[in-house]
Amino acid sequence: MTPDRLAALHARCFTRPRPWTVAEFADLLASPHAFLLTRPDGFLLGRLVVDEAEVLTLAVAPQSRRQGIARDLMDDFAATSRDRGATRAFLEVAADNAPAQALYHGTGWRESGRRRRYYGPDLDAIVMALAL
Ligand SMILES: CC(C)(COP(=O)(O)OP(=O)(O)OC[C@H]1O[C@@H](n2cnc3c(N)ncnc32)[C@H](O)[C@@H]1OP(=O)(O)O)[C@@H](O)C(=O)NCCC(=O)NCCS
Repeated sequence: MTPDRLAALHARCFTRPRPWTVAEFADLLASPHAFLLTRPDGFLLGRLVVDEAEVLTLAVAPQSRRQGIARDLMDDFAATSRDRGATRAFLEVAADNAPAQALYHGTGWRESGRRRRYYGPDLDAIVMALAL
């Protein structure tokens, strides 16, 4: 998927936190630490530094939700990170994003912290972790 397509899909999936721009996706993809997992209607952008992996963002097109695409991408993320030497993974999710939190709890992630007002004055980030 090109940065244009990633940004277009992201814009359909996020309002707050705001969607990422084409330039932001291009910059991230240029990093040797980033890795992109794609499905026809979804993607996950991850990053791996030494033994720690991170889910940077995850998006599935609205018309294709509840078909297991995100769960498949999360499983792929864990397997890919493990294969490349990661021993633990983390992510941040908005405190008001119940669908994503349900997805993460269901794929073995556990809450490990909270960043107050991370996404704005009234929106915290929940930090979640997974041992690989
Ligand atoms: C969150 C998101 C990625 C889920 O994608 P998806 O492909 O629909 O998820 P899946 O079909 O793989 O769902 C797996 C499980 O997650 C949970 N889940 C997913 N969507 C849910 C919803 N709307 N409400 C409650 N639980 C939900 C369920 O436990 C589900 O299993 P089930 O369908 O067997 O009940 C998608 O809704 C999305 O792109 N949202 C906007 C962007 C976003 O929030 N990204 C994550 C930011 S951290």
